[in-house]
Amino acid sequence: MMALVFEKSKASKKIKWLKTSTSQSWLDQAIAHPLEILIDHANCERKAAGAAIQMMFRYIGEPGLAEVLSPLAREELEHFERVLEILKSRGRYLEPLEAPPYGSLLAKSIRKEEPLRMLDSFLVAGLIEARSHERMALLSLHSPDQELRALYAELLHSEARHFCLYWTLAEERFDKSATLTRLNELAEVESKILSEIHHEPRMHS
Ligand SMILES: [Fe+2]
Ligand SMILES: [Fe+2]
Repeated sequence: MMALVFEKSKASKKIKWLKTSTSQSWLDQAIAHPLEILIDHANCERKAAGAAIQMMFRYIGEPGLAEVLSPLAREELEHFERVLEILKSRGRYLEPLEAPPYGSLLAKSIRKEEPLRMLDSFLVAGLIEARSHERMALLSLHSPDQELRALYAELLHSEARHFCLYWTLAEERFDKSATLTRLNELAEVESKILSEIHHEPRMHS
């Protein structure tokens, strides 16, 4: 089962998820506030696990879904624990930071009726993974903090695998061209949300 998933994931790497690249101003903002980004990052990992579990519970009878989403949720919780460990080593802890509008605006784009809701849920989750991957890659290269560069470099490979998994979940269940069209639409929304930088430094500001 996993071999099949990884084989398909290789092909799905060719899918272009993001419409626009992250701006220099986001990177400058993130580098200037490393601990706030780290706390927000811990929250993102926790939310990624929650989103996977929520989908698994919503579509409990859907064959092949729990086998993918359960290990994915576990992996996100491992990331969460990894980030928490570094936060604690730096004398900080989790804080309920004000969330940027990114997640809630993307969630609003998910259509209400099934099975379109399922398709959109996979694609939105994949887009968030793709953006996280892109931003972690930037931080792994440009953060002046060696420990943080190593952390992001370590995590970003899993995030790349995650957006491939969400693509595979969509591709296995929906018409390929309708899926691509919808991905295109949602990717436009995603880029538009990020076109104005949020005033607070966040992973998805
Ligand atoms: Fe993660
Ligand atoms: Fe992820």
